Amino acid sequence: MTFDLTGKTALVTGASRGIGRALAVGLARAGADIALSARDEALLREVQAEIEGLGRKAVVLPADVTDAAACHALVDDTLAALGHLDVLVNNAGGSSFMGPFTELRFSGWEKVMRLNVDSIVHLCQAAGRHMTARGSGSVINVASVAGLTGTPLLAPYGASKAAVVSLTRSLALEWGEYGVRVNALCPGWTRTDLNRELWAGADEGAAFVANQGLKRWAGVEEMVGPTVFLASDASSYVTGQALAVDGGQTAT
Ligand SMILES: NC(=O)c1ccc[n+]([C@@H]2O[C@H](COP(=O)([O-])OP(=O)(O)OC[C@H]3O[C@@H](n4cnc5c(N)ncnc54)[C@H](OP(=O)(O)O)[C@@H]3O)[C@@H](O)[C@H]2O)c1
Repeated sequence: MTFDLTGKTALVTGASRGIGRALAVGLARAGADIALSARDEALLREVQAEIEGLGRKAVVLPADVTDAAACHALVDDTLAALGHLDVLVNNAGGSSFMGPFTELRFSGWEKVMRLNVDSIVHLCQAAGRHMTARGSGSVINVASVAGLTGTPLLAPYGASKAAVVSLTRSLALEWGEYGVRVNALCPGWTRTDLNRELWAGADEGAAFVANQGLKRWAGVEEMVGPTVFLASDASSYVTGQALAVDGGQTAT
């Protein structure tokens, strides 16, 4: 079973809600034990119970990934709790605003970069040291189709996700000889709290998906299969890739 993750461990950030929660449960369903992280401990406890119900181990490690020291401590605590780390899913991220670039406050730019890029730098440094020394590992950085295309009114978000894709490619080339693969998952429009105001209206956000192939928003569960693929031996010869899971948005 090349998609089987039995005996593997995974750390998932942003596991309290949305895509990250689905990925954590999905990786556990595939057999992995999971370290769950986000800021909201109560929500993480719910995910923990769900994973334990599947017969897998889950530990809750609350952390704010905009804090560099917390990122390093998170990897240390994961190793202490689970013994080793096979899969790192850098999913925590987002952007809480949009607007014209000429009106952007630089503090807003820095905030988006701190959450979406700096966090992944710190987590990749901490986990990468462990994985390269151990000679195996799979890192999955959740970027976005926004990192592959222009993103009017969301320039900081798009630039942050493009940086994640670039970092992914660089680390794949640096770490390949140590048996560590690094890939980016690039979701398209996916229904979560992040963009609720865009899809919760009467037209269910139809305008945003009018030009893509499938012409519908994704559910969070549709990100699970591609992530299990990237986490598992099924993708043993895949590294440095930005896998768009976008209903054909980037095919246009
Ligand atoms: N939804 C989409 O259409 C879409 C498309 C492309 C890419 N993405 C990317 O997919 C990832 C997940 O997005 P989502 O849509 O699932 O968003 P979401 O529903 O808003 O969930 C975001 C997750 O990140 C955590 N988080 C946010 N800030 C954090 C911080 N400072 N420290 C630690 N955890 C933090 C949140 O947990 P707490 O609040 O508990 O900390 C939550 O678990 C993001 O990287 C996003 O950019 C989403």
